[in-house]
Order: sequence, then structure tokens, then C-alpha cells
Amino acid sequence: MRLFNYSLLLLSLIILSGCNAKKEKEKNTASLSDRYKNDFYIGTALSADQIEEKNPAVDSLIKKEFNAITAENIMKSMFIHPFKDQYDFTLSDKFIAYGEKNKMFIHGHTLIWHSQLAPWMQKIKDSTEMKAFMKDHITTIVTKYKGRVDSWDVVNEALNEDGSLRKSIFLNTLGERYLVDAFKFAAAADPKVDLYYNDYNNEEPAKREGNINLIKKIKAGGGKIDGVGIQAHWKLQHPSLEEIEKSILAYSALGIKVAFTELDISVLPNPKDLNGADVNQNFESNAKMNPYPQTLPDSVQVKLAERYASIFKLFLKHKDKISRVTFWGVHDGQSWLNDWPIKGRTNYPLLFDKNLKPKKAYNSVMELKETKQ
Ligand code: XIL
Repeated sequence: MRLFNYSLLLLSLIILSGCNAKKEKEKNTASLSDRYKNDFYIGTALSADQIEEKNPAVDSLIKKEFNAITAENIMKSMFIHPFKDQYDFTLSDKFIAYGEKNKMFIHGHTLIWHSQLAPWMQKIKDSTEMKAFMKDHITTIVTKYKGRVDSWDVVNEALNEDGSLRKSIFLNTLGERYLVDAFKFAAAADPKVDLYYNDYNNEEPAKREGNINLIKKIKAGGGKIDGVGIQAHWKLQHPSLEEIEKSILAYSALGIKVAFTELDISVLPNPKDLNGADVNQNFESNAKMNPYPQTLPDSVQVKLAERYASIFKLFLKHKDKISRVTFWGVHDGQSWLNDWPIKGRTNYPLLFDKNLKPKKAYNSVMELKETKQ
């Protein structure tokens, strides 16, 4: 009898430890991209070092958690096309190879953008020269990666906050037909690749209206446009979920995909005059503007987790309209928000901290998918 009891006890212990081991294994193998695999791609932006796999710990985190990649900088015109007759594909080739090796969705960022332009491009004044540049730039790059890049940001940030067209070097030299032309050149080079217009604050009412008009104009002019990218450089309180939801509905009503392309949530105070994500804006630093130089207080950590949870809940509600959600960076330590719009601050906008540990915000996004949907 006693022997029987002991065996029973032993058996229960074995089963229990088996269950715990299974749970532990699940915890170690569970990942964002796996949890959301039936909903939308979960992407990250990669720095040059990450493309070159310089840090093995970061590299295995990327491969475990993400199934889509965007190059944070190296495909921008100043890097990929530094001189008129010279392209530099060294890093973009590695970027594409990285995505292919890891069977990831590859997004190209970005073909036509007024920022991070090569100095020679900034000097173009004449419309014939500008059109020739646009045609050569788009055709060369899109053709080179034809069938290998899954989607492109054809034009980035062409709108002002009030929805009017930004007076960029492209608008100034070519007038608004540059928008249709850019999409036509891209489609001609790779008819099958998805083509996106990408911007920040285009979930705000006035800019959203401008963006809707822009998409309609591109279509009316015979351009192929498959999606809109909402950059999603957001704050703890702003924008409201209502405006985000209205935007998802309004854009998808145009028959295009919606992607959240550069998601991060700043927890730091914002300079009063800043409204958006214009990379050319910069402000003075002071201690008040950098309140958490060592660690993020738990109360803010919780707020960030709640904000991420509410955003992803909304994304899941509209998963049929959303193609991809990409974070702007892998971990807090590398985020551009440590140096923008004020240099040398410590921000905490992503799901992994600077030591690559998942934050409360990571758990809150994962937990939304714990129960079967
Ligand atoms: C940022 C990069 O993260 C920084 O490293 C770089 O110094 C400036 O550009 N909108 C965009 C992105 O479309 O390309 C920008 O990326 C952030 C705002």
C-alpha cells in the first residue's frame, strides 16, 4: 500500500515537472511573429550593424521575434546613390540576403524622400534633370531587387500637417505630377511588387484627408498604389485610438492595404513646437526633457504596456485590413528617439530594453494572443 502511494507521488511529480518544463519551453520559443502569424507580419527596422549580424545576441533576438524587415537607413538615397553615376549596393545586398536567408518579408525604404538626400541630388534645379534622376533612381533600384523585395515605400512624407503638398525639392521642380510618375516608374520596373505611400501623422484628420486625396490622385493618374504606411511614431497619450481606427477604415475603403511601418512610443516630454517626426527638426536638451536617464519608473512601464496593449487590440480587430506592423528598431538602446528630436536622451519606446530583455509592454502584446482568437 505504502509502495503504491510513493509511486503515485513520484508519478505526479514527474507529470508536474513535465508540465512546467513544457511551459518554460513555450516561454522560450514563443515569439511575437509566431503569436501573430495568422494576423499580420511583425517587423523591425535593422541598423547597418544588425544587417551585418555583428552582435550574436541581437541577431538571435531578431530571428526569433520578427518575420519582416526594413532597413533603418542604408536604402535611403544618400547611402544607396551617393553620386550621380554611382550606386552603392554593398549593404542593401546584405540586407536582402539576410531577409531571404531567414525567410522574412522584405520591405524597401525608401525611394523618393526629401530627407537624407545625397548632396548632388540637393543641387538639382531643373525639371528635366529631376525627372531623369527619379526615373534612373527608381528603375535601377527596383529592377535590381525585382522579385526579391516584397514591398516598397515609393514616396515618403510628401504631405504637410494640413494635408497640402510639402514644398519639397520634387514638388518645386516637377509639380505634383512627380507623385504619379514615381509610382509609374516603380510599377514598370517590378509590376508585381506592392507599392506604398508612407508618412507620419497621417492618422490625424487634416493630414489623413490630404493623404486620401493624394492616393486618389495617384490612382486617377494611372499609378499603381497598393498600400499606405502609417509610420506610427506615437506618444503615450497621442494619437487617440479613435483617430487610428478611423484611419484604418478610411484608407482600406480606398481598396488598399494599411501597414504600421515605424512603430515606437515615446515616453519622454515633447518639445512644445514639435508635432510629427520630421527628422530635420532638433531642440536643446535639459534635465527636465530627459527625466529617466537611468531606468524607467515602473508606473511608466505599466502605462507603456497598457498603451501597446490597446493599440494591438485595435490592430487585431482590423487584422483583415492590416498587412504589417513594424517596430522602428529592435531594442530601446538603439532607438533613434534617444537622439531625436533632442540629442542624448534616454527613451524607452520599444518592446525590448537595452539589455534585450522583454519589457512589460512585450508581455502585454503577447498576452493578447494567449487565448485562441
Ligand atoms: C530615421 C532613422 O531612424 C535615423 O537613424 C536617421 O538618423 C534619421 O531617420 N521617418 C522615416 C525614417 O521615414 O526613415 C526615419 O528614420 C524616422 C522618421
